[in-house]
Amino acid sequence: MAILNILKYPEKSLLEPSAPVDEIDEELKRFIADMGETMFHDSGVGLAAPQVGVNKRVIVYDSHAADPEFEEEVNEFTALINPEIIKKSDDTFISENEGCLSVVDFRSDVKRHTRVTVRALNIDGKQMEFDAEGLLSVIMQHEIDHLDGVLFIDRISSLKRAMYKKKLKKKMKQAE
Ligand code: NI
Repeated sequence: MAILNILKYPEKSLLEPSAPVDEIDEELKRFIADMGETMFHDSGVGLAAPQVGVNKRVIVYDSHAADPEFEEEVNEFTALINPEIIKKSDDTFISENEGCLSVVDFRSDVKRHTRVTVRALNIDGKQMEFDAEGLLSVIMQHEIDHLDGVLFIDRISSLKRAMYKKKLKKKMKQAE
């Protein structure tokens, strides 16, 4: 297994839509294992393939992230292939202080659907469907957005986004 390099905004592959997976082969399974390892290495609760430069519709997330009872440090992840949100609640809530491994030094409140229904293939190619709410719902919306080239900063007010971009520009200039 290997730790992959997580790309940072405004890297191109983060902003592009990803293509569906048509075959779950050994190479893809190895890549997914690397994604899981990378996510835990960087203390994330979710990671999407375009964040490591692969524009395929694959996400991984911490299997225990949404379980408040679970306190043990067990690194287990779940992979979803070609995930889609097939239903979302009209009611929304504020996901507080949301962040992303690809968006450095910035967090923001984001308005999210309270509940979503996700359809996806698991790593064995079996189709599954499940409802998510709370943190799991946020992870699903955030990670599946990545597969469409959408970041959480696209879901905040334009004023806040402009502030972030200005800050980033300044930082990049300083690094030159
Ligand atoms: Ni993210």
